[in-house]
Amino acid sequence: MSVARSLLLRLSRSEWLAEQFRSRAFAQRAVRRFMPGEDLASALDATARFATAGIGTILTELGERVTTRAEADAVRDHYLGVLKQIRERQLPSVVSIKLTHLGLDTDREACLKDVMALAAAAQAGGSFLWIDMEESNYVDATLDVFRRVRGAHENVGVCLQAYLRRTAADLDALLPLKPAIRLVKGAYNEPPLVAFPAKRDTDANYFALGGKLLEAAAQGRATPCFGTHDLGLIARLRERGTQLKVSPSAYEFALLYGIRADDQQRLAAQGARVRVLISYGSAWFPWYMRRLAERPANVWFVLRSLL
Ligand code: FDA
Repeated sequence: MSVARSLLLRLSRSEWLAEQFRSRAFAQRAVRRFMPGEDLASALDATARFATAGIGTILTELGERVTTRAEADAVRDHYLGVLKQIRERQLPSVVSIKLTHLGLDTDREACLKDVMALAAAAQAGGSFLWIDMEESNYVDATLDVFRRVRGAHENVGVCLQAYLRRTAADLDALLPLKPAIRLVKGAYNEPPLVAFPAKRDTDANYFALGGKLLEAAAQGRATPCFGTHDLGLIARLRERGTQLKVSPSAYEFALLYGIRADDQQRLAAQGARVRVLISYGSAWFPWYMRRLAERPANVWFVLRSLL
């Protein structure tokens, strides 16, 4: 991992820096590159615009690691409201949640109950619920919640991270559930014992795991979602899908709002299924720092906004 990436990821956990950033206009200007606005209405309006180009969205309210049940309850209620609006406006949108935002650290059973309620609401409205993957110490708990919710609802999927050494085994263990898996490279600061330190190893593992998911999709045993902006990887996965005779409608690509926007449109125009993940909310600091860490050159945008 590069020094710049590692430093930015460490800083993403600084409460002091978060406070300094949140109140500054230049930082708010820089963040706007990655979100249409801080409120849900902006995310829903952006969804309606993407829909005209045949692109769906994934909506997520920023926030993680809440420390009280009251905060978690508010997050659950917020997402129930989001699902209601998706349904009423008939938008091609799904929701993605972080379990620590729903109080995983405070009470795992209460968190599970909330995820069950959200999956039920998503199902009733013809939508879908994704579970994000956070730091490696949350993987076991996240997969446990996913398995239990998947036992009751079909419209739930989980994110797996290609940088983790354990992910190949996790994927094998999940495949009997005919899961929906969102495969990403991984965004956190992990020790070499847990995650591949070299990016090329993560990239190679991503393609190997992606190939396995496509093989399962060819037999109707998995629904892959490839969360990446790596255009070379996307091309190779599409090629592999064609070789395996997987219909392009059996898997999708998901990219973040504001990153490779032209390619999002191009892929959709070529017949690939594309979703854009839109984040909103005021708790953007750790999330924004992870975006900077993915491409340290983005720090220049912050400096330009400052000037
Ligand atoms: P890579 O980092 O190799 O980037 C490929 C190219 O994309 C770069 O060369 C650059 O041009 C462009 N690019 C990538 N990031 C950029 C940025 N921030 N700004 C500008 N350009 C950029 N992680 C996680 O741990 N848990 C999760 O639940 C999720 N969920 C998730 C959902 C979706 C839909 C996406 C797209 C990503 C995630 N991630 C995630 C983040 C993921 O782990 C990863 O950090 C980023 O996607 C960056 O990796 P890439 O696959 O894009 O490849």
